[in-house]
Amino acid sequence: MVRATTFDDVTVIATESLSKRFPRVTALDRLSLDIGPGVTGLVGSNGAGKSTLIKILLGLSPATEGRAAVLGLDVATEGAAIRERVGYMPEHDCLPPDVSATEFVVHMARMSGLPPTAARERTADTLRHVGLYEERYRPIGGYSTGMKQRVKLAQALVHDPRLV
Ligand SMILES: Nc1ncnc2c1ncn2[C@@H]1O[C@H](COP(=O)(O)OP(=O)(O)OP(=O)(O)O)[C@@H](O)[C@H]1O
Ligand SMILES: [Mg+2]
Repeated sequence: MVRATTFDDVTVIATESLSKRFPRVTALDRLSLDIGPGVTGLVGSNGAGKSTLIKILLGLSPATEGRAAVLGLDVATEGAAIRERVGYMPEHDCLPPDVSATEFVVHMARMSGLPPTAARERTADTLRHVGLYEERYRPIGGYSTGMKQRVKLAQALVHDPRLV
């Protein structure tokens, strides 16, 4: 378990010799890092392996070798628990066009385990926080790109994640 050896109160993300090899390319090559609280930027040229790393950290894609922990949880076995505690804003659109921002974000809050009343309250607060007002009752299909970005951000924040 990574938790036993590398995770402590100030380690939010830890990787140890993490590699991801595809048939034609090595996307990650024995990456070891410790990330503490605060804001951390992940910067690299196209194809550097950023998205690959994030998919592994969310427990969505297995590493070829090495190990990693997020909030003390092992990415190989505790992906669902990680995704409950983490807010993630995907780069590509994943929004249903025929529901409103309010309906969608309430749904995502419920999926993250919030009870109905808390989900509705948190949704209202979060949509206000990201700057969606009257539009929040209109179908998402009619939103501009920036408005869709705001909805994606709201769903990443609505369950008050420990890590975004
Ligand atoms: N499913 C896959 N199958 C094969 N190769 C892949 C796959 N996913 C990623 N790769 C390869 O792994 C490398 C890293 O890709 P990745 O998407 O992680 O880069 P990135 O840092 O997110 O780039 P960008 O800045 O363009 O988003 C690239 O060479 C890419 O072609
Ligand atoms: Mg990417």
